[in-house]
Amino acid sequence: MKVVGFVGSPRKKGNTTTIVNEVLRGAGEAGAETKIFDLNALSIRGCQACYHCQKPDGKCIQKDDMTQLYDEVFTADAVVMGTPVFMLQVTGQTKIFIDRLFALLYLKDGQPGNFRNKIKAKKTVTVYSQGQPDAGAFASSFDLHEGVLAFLGFKVQERIVAGGMRAEDAARGNREILEKAYAAGVGLLK
Ligand SMILES: Cc1cc2nc3c(=O)[nH]c(=O)nc-3n(C[C@H](O)[C@H](O)[C@H](O)COP(=O)(O)O)c2cc1C
Repeated sequence: MKVVGFVGSPRKKGNTTTIVNEVLRGAGEAGAETKIFDLNALSIRGCQACYHCQKPDGKCIQKDDMTQLYDEVFTADAVVMGTPVFMLQVTGQTKIFIDRLFALLYLKDGQPGNFRNKIKAKKTVTVYSQGQPDAGAFASSFDLHEGVLAFLGFKVQERIVAGGMRAEDAARGNREILEKAYAAGVGLLK
């Protein structure tokens, strides 16, 4: 069992990383092999809309750090997708990553709009970190993000929202969030 985490924060030791690491720690102690990727530190260009990937066996033709991440997504049994909230939504780093995951789809019979998935119901935990203390404040934005993830073939089984996380180390002292994250990681192996 392999669980792979993706972090869309520019802060290397920020709250999103702390919480995603705690999900992975839970999964690891339950028996999974785990890995984490810092999207901000990788070279990932935006989708160029060539549609080359939209064949049943089609791959993205861009040669950058996404090449490795596609392999990681395909071979993972479960993933953790973490992002801070920037301007009410996921960060730009996260959005570019999600756009590039267009390659997880293909157009059946080449028909416009007739999308099929190359991955099926991959177990997923989402993690959001935000300054706003009210964890429900951006629910519609998270619903949209998870709608896109579902369209791509991910099955979100848990959403973790950490509110009041303006300071970089806020999550480290938040026992409730850390316990929730750890349990979500353990839950990925059930
Ligand atoms: C450019 C920018 C935009 C932000 N926009 C929001 C926002 O719309 N709502 C909010 O609650 N927090 C917002 N924040 C605060 C971050 O979501 C918060 O500090 C978060 O915990 C950062 O996660 P990190 O520590 O993993 O980087 C913003 C921060 C930055 C730098």
